[in-house]
Amino acid sequence: MAKQNKILVFGAGGMLGRELLAAAPPPGLELIGLARAQADITSAEQVARAMAEHRPGLVINAAAFSNVDGAESEPQAALAVNAQGPQNLAKACHEAGAPFIHISTDYVFGGGGQTRPYLESDPPMPLNQYGVSKLRGEELVRAACSRHLIVRTSWLFGALARNFIHLMLELMRSRSTIKVVDDQVGCPTPAADLAQALLRLAAMVLEQGDAAWGTYHLGGPLVINRYQFAQMIWAEARKYLNKDLTIEPVGSEVFAAPAKRPAYSALDCAKIKQRFGLALADWRPELARIVKLLQ
Ligand SMILES: NC(=O)c1ccc[n+]([C@@H]2O[C@H](COP(=O)([O-])OP(=O)(O)OC[C@H]3O[C@@H](n4cnc5c(N)ncnc54)[C@H](OP(=O)(O)O)[C@@H]3O)[C@@H](O)[C@H]2O)c1
Repeated sequence: MAKQNKILVFGAGGMLGRELLAAAPPPGLELIGLARAQADITSAEQVARAMAEHRPGLVINAAAFSNVDGAESEPQAALAVNAQGPQNLAKACHEAGAPFIHISTDYVFGGGGQTRPYLESDPPMPLNQYGVSKLRGEELVRAACSRHLIVRTSWLFGALARNFIHLMLELMRSRSTIKVVDDQVGCPTPAADLAQALLRLAAMVLEQGDAAWGTYHLGGPLVINRYQFAQMIWAEARKYLNKDLTIEPVGSEVFAAPAKRPAYSALDCAKIKQRFGLALADWRPELARIVKLLQ
């Protein structure tokens, strides 16, 4: 028998996984996290073993091949983790009768040149191999487990694992001028806030035993470009760094990264608010907290 109050998190060693495990679970819920060394989601055997051992009432997949540039040179490895892995989990959840919450990305969009926030009903059009692999993962999850919630999020940041904020702070400490692209627009999302919202979602699903299954967008409420994000990070960091800094807006071509990034990939998050009452708050206080913590 599955334990209805037990949530099993795969990919527990990553940025979102760590925040899920660090978050206070809603009352009555037990959270178990498995990092890659404890369960490799590309192995159906390891997934089956973990499911049999823990018998969860619900599964959250926070595991991913998240190296966007790396996926260009290793598309098969990205597909294994971002598509076959979620398929293994979805099949195991279906067999166990456990609902499955799978995390996906704004990078399934971007190829169409759209400039208004993407709806769940907009056709995906990834620009890079990471986006292709995540989109394939979504398709395989939908096919394998009807009781799924695919939650697309974007531009995660937090204190517990390296991300854009860590990079910016390093550059801000060591240089007098930094260049940041202003031709990529998205919704920065605090991983801690997303983790809290996902646990509330899981609690609702477990309590009701049913949900409006499907695909949802959940990201931060501010639509900004990376240059503006860097400026907001600097507004906090300068409180601790006694120096002058110039932040120069540049185009993406300046960095010649292996993977193309969407010029615009903001997510419209109205559907999950309407169906589940979930919305992420203005994250500026959380940014201030993180920058202070990382000094
Ligand atoms: N970060 C973002 O800006 C962003 C934006 C939009 C959506 N997302 C999505 O949000 C989710 C969480 O991302 P994140 O930023 O937390 O990623 P992350 O920090 O890279 O964490 C992913 C975790 O998955 C683990 N993993 C990799 N291969 C695995 C495997 N075969 N089996 C089990 N675990 C494996 C990684 O372990 P190793 O460290 O050992 O490889 C890592 O601990 C992902 O679905 C991602 O696509 C992220």
